[in-house]
Amino acid sequence: MVSRVIPVDVFDLVIFGGTGDLARRKILPGLYRRFLAGQMVPESRMIGAARADLTDEAFRQQVREAIAEFVPKARQDDAAIEGFLGRIHYVSIDATGTGGWAALKALMRENVVRAFYFSVAPSLFGDIAQRLSEHQIADAWSRIVVEKPFGRDLASAKALNEVLAKHFNETQIYRIDHYLGKETVQNLMAVRFANILFEPLWKAEYIDHVQITVAETVGVDGRGAYYDKSGAMRDMVQNHLMQLLCLIAMEPPYHFDPDAVRDEKLKVIRALKPVKTEDIVRGQYGAGRGEKSYVVHSENPASKTESYIALKVQISNWRWQGVPFYLRTGKRLRARASEIAITFKQPPHAIFDDASGWHENVLVIRLQPNEGMNLMVMIKEPGPGGMRLMQVPLDMSFADAIDDAEDVPDAYERLIMDVIRGNQTLFMRGDEVEAAWAWTDPIIEGWEARGDRPQTYDPGSSGPEDALMLMHRDGRRWREIRE
Ligand code: BG6
Repeated sequence: MVSRVIPVDVFDLVIFGGTGDLARRKILPGLYRRFLAGQMVPESRMIGAARADLTDEAFRQQVREAIAEFVPKARQDDAAIEGFLGRIHYVSIDATGTGGWAALKALMRENVVRAFYFSVAPSLFGDIAQRLSEHQIADAWSRIVVEKPFGRDLASAKALNEVLAKHFNETQIYRIDHYLGKETVQNLMAVRFANILFEPLWKAEYIDHVQITVAETVGVDGRGAYYDKSGAMRDMVQNHLMQLLCLIAMEPPYHFDPDAVRDEKLKVIRALKPVKTEDIVRGQYGAGRGEKSYVVHSENPASKTESYIALKVQISNWRWQGVPFYLRTGKRLRARASEIAITFKQPPHAIFDDASGWHENVLVIRLQPNEGMNLMVMIKEPGPGGMRLMQVPLDMSFADAIDDAEDVPDAYERLIMDVIRGNQTLFMRGDEVEAAWAWTDPIIEGWEARGDRPQTYDPGSSGPEDALMLMHRDGRRWREIRE
């Protein structure tokens, strides 16, 4: 199966924060890959905008280095790189002042898609939005892309929404959650809504519980100062895990259309029950294996910020009544592994005796790495000697199913092309972000008011002991975290 590349319209994409880390690691290398794949019409242009005083040539050199560092060698084609760099420009701009805006305006072309990527601190969103409209650089057809964190609580998210809404309509605002750009995450929708097999069983009557795991091996070194003000709940759960939960739990939208999909996700978020104190476990990694502890990385010896969190979440609606969703995510865990596991209930009546070795059916959707799907089913153990059962996986690796897994676009590539196409399906709507904070705020306020300290866990482990208890209490256990 070869992936089809459908070119997008000619565009001018301005990247505010063009010299920053995200632009260097993800945005610019991603754009190069789309150029290489032939998805970008050659007349399209990328304009870096940042405070530094750089010439076009000096900025191109930075982009050249970013491609060398972040694009796999096999995809580094000299002619394509030079062609791509020819599409790159740079404007030195003062986001909070007057410098550079006239030059940016002069550079923009008429009758092409204009997109503005705000890869800057959220405190600058308002300034940039205002100057774009004041200088009439953005028009009614322009799009803006904003990165997370979109606020740190409901009040700040509302304030950001309001500041953007002064200058842009909701249909022009693309709030990125890069998890939605991952192929396997989109596959959740394909698996659920393009097959008849699963949907009839997708409800409390047949599902025992759901586990959502996003485990990382990295620590917070290098970004401890930011992370310490955030923690796993704000950094991962309020956005990425919440989106995964929504895709698993939502009702079928009437069409694969931006508002139809986002309306259904919003209903899930609004149906989330408040989480009980005993259903929250927070952890912080200690030192070990020659690595420094969280408090050293965050340079805050008294830090009470969690680098791990596990939660038992309930959705208060007809479909999911009584079905727990166990969520966990953390840094410095034993393996990098993100997966969703749906455990089904026992058959209503057991015809085989207890010694047969029955296990539940589990559908495991591996998001990364080793993307794929596994359906654990029971079969008869081969051989004579009565009916003994064994659990075997119906195994599908996504990498095996596509010819060239290297050609699968990275989340950012996919999402930026969607911005140019004007497709908001995989972006968060303002009300969705606010609803997610409305659910998150009381959880964080609860532990802050109690002065809770996270439990220390060993680096390279599966997280704190209490997280195991969270499941054991319910007679269940976490799946092993492994690559
Ligand atoms: C980011 C978080 O949004 O997602 C990081 O801020 C985290 O803390 C990252 O490491 C994980 O993304 P991925 O794509 O590597 O799973």
